[in-house]
Amino acid sequence: MDANDPTAVVRRGYDAVSRLYRRDDDCPDEYTPWLATLHQRLPARASVLDLGCGCGIPVARALAERGHRLTGVDLSEIQINRARHLVPQATFLHADATQISFPDGVFDAVVCLYTLIHMPLDAQPRLISRIAWWLRPGGWLLATTGAQAWTGSEDNWLGGTATMWWSHADAATYRDWIAQAGLHIASEHFVQEADSGHELFWAYRNRWTRVHRDRKLRAWNRQRQR
Ligand SMILES: C[S@@+](CC[C@H](N)C(=O)[O-])C[C@H]1O[C@@H](n2cnc3c(N)ncnc32)[C@H](O)[C@@H]1O
Repeated sequence: MDANDPTAVVRRGYDAVSRLYRRDDDCPDEYTPWLATLHQRLPARASVLDLGCGCGIPVARALAERGHRLTGVDLSEIQINRARHLVPQATFLHADATQISFPDGVFDAVVCLYTLIHMPLDAQPRLISRIAWWLRPGGWLLATTGAQAWTGSEDNWLGGTATMWWSHADAATYRDWIAQAGLHIASEHFVQEADSGHELFWAYRNRWTRVHRDRKLRAWNRQRQR
C-alpha cells in the first residue's frame, strides 16, 4: 500500500497515538449515557460489533462487563493488541472495517464512534449499507459522523509525532446515507467539542424489511402448495 494512502496514514497515526488518545482507565463523560442507553436497548448477552473499537476503552469493556458478546474491529495493530489485553472477554479483529464482512442479521447492535470520519468518503455509504445488513431486524446502530463536511490532515496530532487524516460529509448527507441503507433514524444530536463537533445518530433496522417480507411470503406460498 502507498505510504501516503489515507488509510495507511490513519493506521500509522493510531499506532503512534494510541496511548495519547486513550489511557487504559479513561471513560470520557459523553460515553456514559450512550452506553447506558445502548445497554437498555439490548437483550441479555447481546451480540455487539464495535467498528473502530480503538483500545476497547470504554465501549467494549463497558458492554462486555454487562454480559454482552463483543466483537471489536480496528485498523491499528497497537490499538487491537491493547484491546485484547484490556478486554480479554471480547473478540478483536485486526482489519479494515471497509473490507470486512459478516453474515446477514448477526448483530443486535453495531457501534461506530469517531471512526467513519477516518475513512475515504466513497467507502462510508457502502459501509453503512453493509452495517444495515449485519444488524438483525430491530437491531441498533449507534454512530458518530461528521457534522460539517471537511477533508484534511493534521501533523503532530495530539502533540505526538504522527500525522492524522479525516474525511467526512455533513450531517444531512449522513442522514440520507443512513436512511438509504434502510435504517430508521430514532434520534440525532450534535456533540459539541471545542469550536466544532460531531453528529450522533441512533438508528435501527426495521423489523420487517422488504427482503424479510418477501422471504416470509415465499415460505407461506411453499406451505400452501404442499
Ligand atoms: C477516534 S478513534 C475512536 C476509537 C473508539 N471508537 C472510541 O470511540 O473510543 C478511531 C479508531 O478507528 C480506527 N479506524 C480508523 N479507520 C478504520 C478502518 N477503516 N477500519 C477499522 N478501524 C479504523 C482507528 O484505528 C482508531 O482506533
